[in-house]
Amino acid sequence: MSNNTDTVYLNGKFLPHDQAFVPVMDRGFVFGDGVYEVIPAYGGRLFRLDEHLQRLDASLAGIRLSNPMNHSEWAETLKHLVNENGGGEQSVYLQLTRGHAPRDHGFPQNIQPTVFISSSPLKPVATELLNNGVAAICLEDIRWKHCHIKAIALLPNILLRQQAIDAGAQEAILIRDGLVTEGAASNLFIVKDGVIKTPPKGPFLLPGITRDLLLELAAANGVNYQECNFGAEELQQADEVWLSSSTKEILPVTKLDDKTVGNGQPGPVWQQIYKLYQNYKQALIDGEVE
Ligand code: PDD
Repeated sequence: MSNNTDTVYLNGKFLPHDQAFVPVMDRGFVFGDGVYEVIPAYGGRLFRLDEHLQRLDASLAGIRLSNPMNHSEWAETLKHLVNENGGGEQSVYLQLTRGHAPRDHGFPQNIQPTVFISSSPLKPVATELLNNGVAAICLEDIRWKHCHIKAIALLPNILLRQQAIDAGAQEAILIRDGLVTEGAASNLFIVKDGVIKTPPKGPFLLPGITRDLLLELAAANGVNYQECNFGAEELQQADEVWLSSSTKEILPVTKLDDKTVGNGQPGPVWQQIYKLYQNYKQALIDGEVE
């Protein structure tokens, strides 16, 4: 069955997804040697594209892979794909690997990186989750020490997320050396006495694009926030707990392990920031912001 997100981009060509192939010795397949981005599009317009491309540059620098395209080439290619796939609301996935070569850990010389982009329909977050919030569990952060790199090697994240799912929760909230870092595929926020807190950027968490926008909206609207470290106890005593990501936007957590967060309903600060976020999306659709 075909749908309107059938076209992908692979190494310079737009083609139907079932005609896109990568050699089996691609280092993405063999080693997980690559990086990625997930960029939402609303009304066919890419959300915070410059910020995503800057983070891509940082990830590529982190794995010592040079970017085969400049930002305007990326912008043109991504926009073309979104249009090909019918505009509207899409989740665009892009991935670069070091390319294909006989298996050897060291970097091969003179090979071309593999560049792949696909998009899928971006489904709105279920109203039920927004009305009632989601459950999360706390787990030890078993990942490496370069979590600021958006690496395609996601095995720890996958295992942690699945452990949460198996426990009937939506997300795993990760704790490293007693400090909260982020979710398995999201950033984390708490609210205490009206003040938003989120862990500072550094090697132990991904610098989320949604996270940054959320803080920008808080600052512009007089909501206090702090980027500071906190432990599991402060997390458990928070009035509100939220998760943020490009695809899930801002989700309220109302159950943490086996305890209720706050009064068990999405809190007032979440309501306010969530609304500001929706307004920002609308402004993007209306062409009022880039
Ligand atoms: N993941 N932290 C981790 C570990 C993530 O994987 C993600 C997003 C985030 C949030 O970043 P952003 O706001 O830029 O989406 C934080 C994407 C959505 C994914 O892997 O599908």
